[in-house]
Amino acid sequence: MNTATRFPSGDARKDNPAVPIRHMDFGFDHAQLKAHFYDDNAFASAFFMAFSAVIPHGERFFIESVRHYRSRLHDPELDARVTGFIGQEAMHGKEHDAVNEAYSRMGYPIGRLDRITHRGLKVLARYLPKAAQLSTTVALEHYTAIISEYMLGSKELQAGFDKQVGDFVLWHMMEETEHKAVAYDVYEKVIGSYALRAGTMIPTTVILIAVLASMQAVLMVSDGTLLNPRLLRQHAKGFGMIYGPRGLFGSVLPHLLDYFKPGFHPNDHDTSELLARFSEKFFGERGELNRNLGKVVVPKVRKAAA
Ligand SMILES: [Fe+2]
Ligand SMILES: [Fe+2]
Repeated sequence: MNTATRFPSGDARKDNPAVPIRHMDFGFDHAQLKAHFYDDNAFASAFFMAFSAVIPHGERFFIESVRHYRSRLHDPELDARVTGFIGQEAMHGKEHDAVNEAYSRMGYPIGRLDRITHRGLKVLARYLPKAAQLSTTVALEHYTAIISEYMLGSKELQAGFDKQVGDFVLWHMMEETEHKAVAYDVYEKVIGSYALRAGTMIPTTVILIAVLASMQAVLMVSDGTLLNPRLLRQHAKGFGMIYGPRGLFGSVLPHLLDYFKPGFHPNDHDTSELLARFSEKFFGERGELNRNLGKVVVPKVRKAAA
């Protein structure tokens, strides 16, 4: 089943793919997962595990910040994309909860990291103005979009993953690419302040990297790899893969800076070819993830009330 249909907008730059809600079940089993699932590298694996630890509550924060403004959209096409966005993020949260539970059963303190994330985001949800909550979501959705574009396009990076975890991560990245403009378009429609959008990106970046790096360190302490002198070379390699100039963060830096252009839009980066390729690979006629796929709901554009 290929779900790469598109919502026509009449504006080629703003053409948006449909945002289908795919009900997935990867059936994670801790007995079949490897702790160092990325390139047998403790450093890089802990980074991706830390990323997974913050996702379930992070995704719920995104959903609530967008949902808050939904009734003000008065735009049936965008409203349908919001339905898809909420459904996709909810599904990501569910499957990341499942993989996190498997890592917990392997002895990693993911439950503790999940609770810390929950507490931190509850404080933000309570005290941060709603407009700033939405601009934080837009900033983080830009991160997921540029990281996804890089990961979907980098065969070298993909080759480092064990098969099941790699498919899971790339499925998530594919759907992040499908809905990358939804929170942005909601923000532009109901708030639109350039100063708030650009201004939010700076503290968001600092907090994101600090949280991920400290959670990564906690995970590496828990399995005894952080200060193991025999792993120093492996850690240096992992550091380069994630934080180095030619690694994950270094490679997405130019795209990150695009966000500060006043006329920026997430669709400035055409990812339609990447989406078509992964949609076919995972969910085409002989799609590799069809066995993990349940119901698919493509949100319909409802006619506006007269
Ligand atoms: Fe997501
Ligand atoms: Fe997202």
